[in-house]
Order: sequence, then structure tokens, then C-alpha cells
Amino acid sequence: MILHIVGARPQFIKLFPVSMALERRGIPFRVLHTGQHYDHVMSGLHFNDLGLRPPEYSLNIGSASHAIQTARMLEGIEKVILEERPALTIVYGDTNSTLAGALASAKLHIPVAHVEAGLRSFDRKMPEEINRVVCDHVSTWHFCPTQNAVDLLAKEGIEGIFTGDVMLDAIHHFAGMIKGPVDDSQYILTTIHRAENTDSAMRFHSIWEALKEISRTNPIIFPIHPRTKAAFGDIIDHDHPGIKIIEPAGYLDMLSLIQHAACVMTDSGGIQKEAFFLKTQCVTLRDTTEWPETIDARANILAGAETSTILSCLEKMMHARMDERITPFGDKRAGEHIVDVIEKNMGATL
Ligand code: UD1
Repeated sequence: MILHIVGARPQFIKLFPVSMALERRGIPFRVLHTGQHYDHVMSGLHFNDLGLRPPEYSLNIGSASHAIQTARMLEGIEKVILEERPALTIVYGDTNSTLAGALASAKLHIPVAHVEAGLRSFDRKMPEEINRVVCDHVSTWHFCPTQNAVDLLAKEGIEGIFTGDVMLDAIHHFAGMIKGPVDDSQYILTTIHRAENTDSAMRFHSIWEALKEISRTNPIIFPIHPRTKAAFGDIIDHDHPGIKIIEPAGYLDMLSLIQHAACVMTDSGGIQKEAFFLKTQCVTLRDTTEWPETIDARANILAGAETSTILSCLEKMMHARMDERITPFGDKRAGEHIVDVIEKNMGATL
């Protein structure tokens, strides 16, 4: 039996193609949800949209400091692993749930497969970077979304396997279900939730100033992450003309919002890629990215959090055209490639 360990919104999306491939081959698996994300809009809604069956294990850990949240996850995951003795655990991405899943498994000598291995921003101040590095170094299998990720792992003495990106599989699967535009204005879609922007009032205010300026010419749709709401919900003007603040969207609504936007402005790793897959230009509100391929394709630009830089980057991207010949994220069958490797190496034990 395989145990998937997930907990945060992007992981439900990444779980989908792998679990589909396992189901198709009749390989048994169970899902452990740490409860890192627990609001309906952050968790249940995505399970519904993706048609995922409810997780067999829900730890309901919730929010806390990094140490407390990770410690509680380690304790809960260890218990489930001892009960279930899975042949393999699969962890996804770079959240605290990924770290806890990989660490708890490795300490109990359970092989770990890391999906989305090998990404690096080279910024150790990002909690996600610490999670990625530790997870890659304790995992058994490293499934890489890009060749660049394989090359980065090789520099750390780790063998990565290029499979393509599971988020591309998911978009491909749901492409026919993406709804038409909510309105036909040249709106800009923005999301802000990364610690580097939400833990710094200066950075957030500087981004907010840019949004206000942009909203004079292009309406802005801003699905607000609970983290950002908790930090700045009381301070920002929810009725600012031209800025529509909405609840976090489900998977399919989000794909529709991305596809029909004139441009996306985000600090999310997943949305940078989804914009690329859906051929919408992106301005990244960060100083680094784990997805340099999207920049090479002129589909993305790093703007940081400085108001004037954001405005000039947006201007540039609104007039740029991406190079559609650059397709580094695989053949839309990453889930199948991952399960091929697992089945070939572990078949009889699963
Ligand atoms: C986490 C990941 C981040 C990922 C993001 C996707 C880590 C370190 N970060 O960030 O890499 O991009 O998920 O969304 O794992 N909250 C709620 N309801 C929820 C979840 C969170 O209100 O369902 C609020 C709480 O105030 C909480 C804050 O959001 O304290 C932060 O949540 P947390 O789980 O620490 O990380 P995210 O910011 O969501």
C-alpha cells in the first residue's frame, strides 16, 4: 500500500494525477491529510473540484508556528505509518506537510517519493526552500518536473528522474471544464500569500500601492489567502474602486480566472506555472523563482515588491509575447511516468 501525505491546497492538485495513474493500475493507496489547510475554500472545495475521494486519515493539525505545526504533524504521521506500514509514502511540493511526511517516513525506514523534487530558489529565508532541501536529502525517489531540477539535484549528489510536471497533467485533464470569462474586461488577477510579502508590512504596502495605481486603468481581481487576510484584512480598503477582493477560489474557478486575465501578478509558485500553461503572461511579486523556464520563455518576469518596478514589469508583460516553443514541463503524463518508476522498482511490495 502507498500512503500519500498532503495538507496544503497545491498538494491536492498534485495528488490528483498520481492517484489517477495508481487507480488505473489497481495499485492500492491511502491519503493522509495533515490539516495544514482546513478552511472549506482551502481544502474541501479542492477535493470536490478534483473529484478526489475523502482522505482516509485527517490529522486536523491546523495553523501554528513552523516548529509546532511540523512537530504535531510528525507525531500524527508517525502514528499512522506505524499502524499502516505502507510500502512507500509520496509527498508533494515544499510545504511543512511535505517536510513532516518525508522526515517521519525516512526515520521509520519507509521509502519516500518526492514529487516536484529538485526545485531551488537559493533563498534559505524561504521556509519552502528549507523544506525542499531537507525533503530531497531524505527521500528515496526524486521525481522532477523539469530537466533543470534534475541538473540542480545532480549538483547535490542526488539522482533525479525527469517525469514532467503533474500540474500540467491536471490542467490538461480539466481543460474542457474551464468556464468562460467572468467578465470581458482586461482584468489583472493577483494573489499574494508568501511569507516574504505577508510578514513584511513594507513589502505588502508597496505591492498594494502598485495595485491601486494599476486599478485606475485595469480592474484587479484579488482572491485573498487567509494568511494575507489575517495580516492585512483590517488595514486594506476592501471597497477600493477597481480592486475586487474575493474569497480564495476553487481549482476550476481559479483556472478560469487565470486563463481569461490580461495578466497575472502573483507570488505563488503554482500560479506562475498555471499562467504559463494557460498562456497568460505573469508578473512575479518575488525576487527569485523556482521556475526559471517561464522567464526564459518570456512568459514571466521577477518584479519583487517595489511599486515602480511592479508597474514597469506589468507594462512590459502586457506587451510581451511568450515563446510557445519552450515546453520544459513534459508531455502531460507525469503521473503515469511517476507510477511507471514506482511499479517497476517496487511492484511486488505494493
Ligand atoms: C502554505 C505553504 C506555502 C504554500 C501555501 C499554499 C508552508 C511553509 N507554506 O502556506 O508554501 O504556497 O501553503 O497555499 O508550508 N490559514 C487559514 N485557513 C487555512 C489555512 C491557513 O486561515 O485553511 C491562515 C492562518 O492564519 C495561518 C496562515 O493562513 O496561520 C498560514 O497558513 P500556513 O499553513 O502556515 O501556510 P500558508 O501561508 O498557507
